[in-house]
Amino acid sequence: MYTVPKLDDYSPDALDRAVAELLRSLEDESAALHDESAYKAFRDRWLARKNGVLTQVNDTWLKAAPGPAKRDVGQRVNALKARVEATIERAHEKLHASSADAKFAEERLDITLPGLHRPIGVRHPILRAMDEMVAVFKAMGYSIGEGPEVETDYYNFESLNFPPNHPARDTQDTLFIAGQDAKPLRERLLLRTHTSPVQIRTMEQQPPPVRIVIPGKVHRNDPLDATHSPVFHQIEGLAVDTNITFCDLKGTLDHAMKAFFGSSVKTRFYPSFFPFTEPSADMQVSCIFCGGKGCRKCKFSGWIELLGCGMVDPNVFEFVKENGYDSSKISGFAFGMGVERIAILKYEVEEIQLFYEGDVRFLEQFA
Ligand code: DAH
Repeated sequence: MYTVPKLDDYSPDALDRAVAELLRSLEDESAALHDESAYKAFRDRWLARKNGVLTQVNDTWLKAAPGPAKRDVGQRVNALKARVEATIERAHEKLHASSADAKFAEERLDITLPGLHRPIGVRHPILRAMDEMVAVFKAMGYSIGEGPEVETDYYNFESLNFPPNHPARDTQDTLFIAGQDAKPLRERLLLRTHTSPVQIRTMEQQPPPVRIVIPGKVHRNDPLDATHSPVFHQIEGLAVDTNITFCDLKGTLDHAMKAFFGSSVKTRFYPSFFPFTEPSADMQVSCIFCGGKGCRKCKFSGWIELLGCGMVDPNVFEFVKENGYDSSKISGFAFGMGVERIAILKYEVEEIQLFYEGDVRFLEQFA
C-alpha cells in the first residue's frame, strides 16, 4: 500500500515539489493501464475513501498543516483532486475507446486490397469485325437479317441460279445431311455454303425496296490452311429498288471500306462470275499494309481481293416474282464478304486458326 510522505516543509516550493511528485506517479500509472482490472486498482488507489492517495493527502498534508500554511496546502490539494479525478476519467475513456479500437481492428476489412482478378470477357475479334462492318451498313439505313445454318438445296443453290449439276456448285462443296436420297434434291438439307440464301428468304418475306445485311456462319468442304477454314463467317448484302445501278454498288462498297478500314483505302472492281449476279465483280481494296506500294502481303500488287458482288441476276428475281420482284421494274445489287478475311486485314492477324484456338494470349489483345 502506497503511503503519502509526511511533509516537514510547508513552503510553497516544497508543496509544489510534493504535488509534482504525486502527479508524476499519477501520469505514469495512468499511462501504463491496459485492462479493466488494472484501471480499477488504479482508481481505488487514488480515490478510495479509506487510505486512497487523496484521503492520505487530506490527512497527512492538509490536516497536519500548521495554521498559516493551511490555505496554500488547501488550494493545492483541491487542484490535485481535480487533476486526479480528470486523469482517472480520461484513463477510463481511453481504456474503453481502445478496447473498441481493438475490436474494430480485429474486424477490419481492408477494402483497398486488390481482389481476385477475374478478367471479364471481350467480344471475339470475329464478332467484333462483324459488328463493326454491320454497323457501317446500319448507319446507311440497312436493316439486319439472319437465316438458318442448315439450309435446303433450294435456298443455298437452286434459287440462286445454281441449277442441279451446274459446275458452279463445285466451287462450294459442302456437307449434306445423310439419308435424304428419297427427297427431291431441292428439299435436301445441307450446311449452307454462303449467306446468299438469305437473299431469297428476305425477298420472300418482304416486297421491294430492300436494304439488308446478313451476318452469319457458313461451311465449306475446304481443308484448313493459313487463310481457309471449313467453318467461317460472311456478311451478305442486298439492295433492291427501282433504278439501282452498278454505280450504287460501287459507291456503297467504297464508302463501307473507307468507313471500316480508314478513309485512305481505295477500291477497284474486277469482272468475275457468280451464278446469282450479272454482271459480277470481285472487289479489291488497296493494300492495308503497304498503302498500295506493294509488299509481301499483297503479293507486290498493291491490291487485296476482298469480296464478291454484282447486280442481282434477273433469274434470281424470277424465284420471288410473285412478291413484287419484277426485273423489268426493279433492280438490285448484292455482295458477300468473308468476316475472317476483313478481320485478318484489320487486326493484322497472321493465321486464320488463331481465331478458333481460343488462346487467351491471342484473344486478350482485343480487350
Ligand atoms: N456467296 C458468294 C460466296 O460465298 C459471295 C457473293 C458474291 C455474295 C457475289 C453475293 C454476291 O451476294 O453478289 O462466294
